[in-house]
Amino acid sequence: MLKVINVVGARPNFMKVAPIVAAMKRRAAKFQPLVVHTGQHYDAAMSDSFFRDLELPQPDTHLGVGSASHAAQTAAVMERFEPVVISEKPDWVLVVGDVNSTLACALVCVKLGVKVAHVEAGLRSRDRTMPEEINRLLTDQIADLLLTPSSDADANLRAEGIPAERIRLVGNVMIDSLLQNVERARGSRIKHDLGVVEKDYGVLTLHRPSNVDSPETFARILAALETITETLPVIFPVHPRTRKTIAELGLSNRVASMKNLRLIDPLGYLDFLSLYSAARLVLTDSGGIQEETSALGIPCLTLRENTERPITVELGTNVVVGTDTSRIVAAASAALNGSAKRTTHQPPFWDGHASERILDALE
Ligand code: UD1
Repeated sequence: MLKVINVVGARPNFMKVAPIVAAMKRRAAKFQPLVVHTGQHYDAAMSDSFFRDLELPQPDTHLGVGSASHAAQTAAVMERFEPVVISEKPDWVLVVGDVNSTLACALVCVKLGVKVAHVEAGLRSRDRTMPEEINRLLTDQIADLLLTPSSDADANLRAEGIPAERIRLVGNVMIDSLLQNVERARGSRIKHDLGVVEKDYGVLTLHRPSNVDSPETFARILAALETITETLPVIFPVHPRTRKTIAELGLSNRVASMKNLRLIDPLGYLDFLSLYSAARLVLTDSGGIQEETSALGIPCLTLRENTERPITVELGTNVVVGTDTSRIVAAASAALNGSAKRTTHQPPFWDGHASERILDALE
């Protein structure tokens, strides 16, 4: 029997851990899963609703860390996670993605001599100003088992000198969640409630500090939206960080003046899936949404200068457009004229069975 602590902390972790925990419960003779929530995200809309939507069991332990500076948040997760690992004595700790909780918990384990597996290992944007890039690099250096979503990740790890025996290509576990929930999301009433018509609206998400904490960059993106929303209504579920910076940067009036840009609270997993899967176009700076839109063949414009998920550009619908106003507008009009990329060759192992391969690797 393998006792595994599965760590979740922030919104993008829940849809990666849910199918893994479900798979462990199906292999109950072999696995005893525990869920530890660090509390990095804590608003109902950023956390609780995902447990419900994804049928993720309530955490066995909640560390209640909350928001703080990077150093304070990372340190608080470490301090509170260490006694849990000491008392539970797990065989494995499983961390996912690239948030501060991922690195903090991996570092606790390696210092205690407890084995740690990193799901979604090996992704690299090569942009070290991005906090997640530091979390990815350091977690991969110290984790015992690196579970990768695609072969570009394996190549990145090998180029960093990581021995092949620590690396296992398992595929994209977020696509497990996507495929398991695509049918259930049809029950969502979100499109009806928002009064939008299938394939006749865009969806926008923005939360990267490099976009929303910088007045110049945020203004360039808003200028593009002023043009795009002249022809396409855009729904914008607003991340709490972004809600705060819109007010702090004095952008509230400018945002409100775009009558076709509709700001709403963050959505749960099923409502968001229902919304973006019927969109004509998605504009985002998220990592996961680049993958989800590619998997479903929805045109995606990534409002960043780089991506740690180049396979979505190579095989999927993603175009990395940066944050220059005219480039965003040109790419959006190409998408609206039907000349957007629509190729959807699914990368190998984005097949809904990554969680089973993760369990095989742990065994
Ligand atoms: C974090 C992750 C990022 C991920 C994102 C997804 C790091 C370094 N960043 O960024 O990789 O893409 O989550 O959402 O781990 N806040 C709330 N309620 C919440 C959570 C946050 O109001 O439930 C507000 C707080 O003001 C907080 C701010 O949002 O200071 C930022 O939260 P934080 O967790 O520090 O980073 P994110 O931008 O959410």
